[in-house]
Amino acid sequence: MARTADVVVVGGGVIGCAIAYELAKGGLGVTLVERGTPGCEASSAGAGMLAPQAESSAPGPLLALKLASKALYPDLAFELSERTGLDIEYETGGNLHCFLDEGDEAVGRAACAWQREAGLKAELLGRADALALEPDLSAEVRGALFLPDDHWVNNPRLVTALANAAAQERAAFVTGEVTAILRTGDRVTGVRVGDEAVRSAAVVLAAGAWSGQLAATAGLTLPIQPVRGQIVCLEGVPRRHHHLLHVKDHYLVPRVSGQILVGASVEWVGFVKQVTAEQIRAFLDAAMRVVPALGRVPIQATWAGFRPWAPDERPVIGPWPGLDGLVAATGHFRNGILLAPVTARLIRELLVDHAPSFDLTPFLPDRFLH
Ligand code: GLY
Repeated sequence: MARTADVVVVGGGVIGCAIAYELAKGGLGVTLVERGTPGCEASSAGAGMLAPQAESSAPGPLLALKLASKALYPDLAFELSERTGLDIEYETGGNLHCFLDEGDEAVGRAACAWQREAGLKAELLGRADALALEPDLSAEVRGALFLPDDHWVNNPRLVTALANAAAQERAAFVTGEVTAILRTGDRVTGVRVGDEAVRSAAVVLAAGAWSGQLAATAGLTLPIQPVRGQIVCLEGVPRRHHHLLHVKDHYLVPRVSGQILVGASVEWVGFVKQVTAEQIRAFLDAAMRVVPALGRVPIQATWAGFRPWAPDERPVIGPWPGLDGLVAATGHFRNGILLAPVTARLIRELLVDHAPSFDLTPFLPDRFLH
């Protein structure tokens, strides 16, 4: 007999696990299908930044969505710790965008101006004030843009905590590859996992960079592509760093453990999961330019993952037009960790309360059908 559920969540990354947790808390019978272990792809490959300000270039609905999601993190961190005993290392030190030259300063001044205009906290610092926050900065750093409200978490730990919390709420986890989204006419009826069907009235497509391939199994077009991001992880950093650092196009994210993650590339190379010499050199050059002491610490690991990219760089969240029961929750590109809590809340509001609290118009899958 086929397995049944109220909702099948396809994909066990941070988005799928957050949704499974939220829906199970909302009283639905959830089955999450993941071919690997929860969080084994992009969700663990990222650096865990919750940086709506550093990672936005203008106000608008996407920034509003990011800010709404970031606001959910303090309670989520507490709740996950209470329920699972796992500390997701929610860090609130803020972001220093370091200036090495006049071009950096001009970019920083412009960002500071629009962000303040939008009511966000942003401050231009001279060298002395930047050094007061991070004493290891190099002699090349002439100032910085300080964004105190950009934060970060330990993202692999976050996904594990969400998966554990979902399991505690009796979400079922199935390990296997979804080979088809099943439909009868204009209704979704479940998914096929290997040779078996899991029947459900609703399917949430949260398969990250693989979402387009899965949509195609139901005859649907969803133009999600993988965008590779590489990272190098340094360890044994002698002084504890308390801020995210940005320098040029690179970022440095400190972990409580004494690691610093340096990234990331943004590459349209398909599903080729390679780490390349030229990218690692660029990361190390940037890291040592801003904090020379990092030249003396060991490299712990390098890795790459695939961000799910939609052509307009907005996430795809909401019901699929013309196929009842299918809901998209994908395309989060560079902000999957940040956007997971609000995405999960919106999917719960769609499937349980039938009243989303946020205007989803800019994020609906409809936009690709015209
Ligand atoms: N959010 C950082 C990145 O995608 O590289």
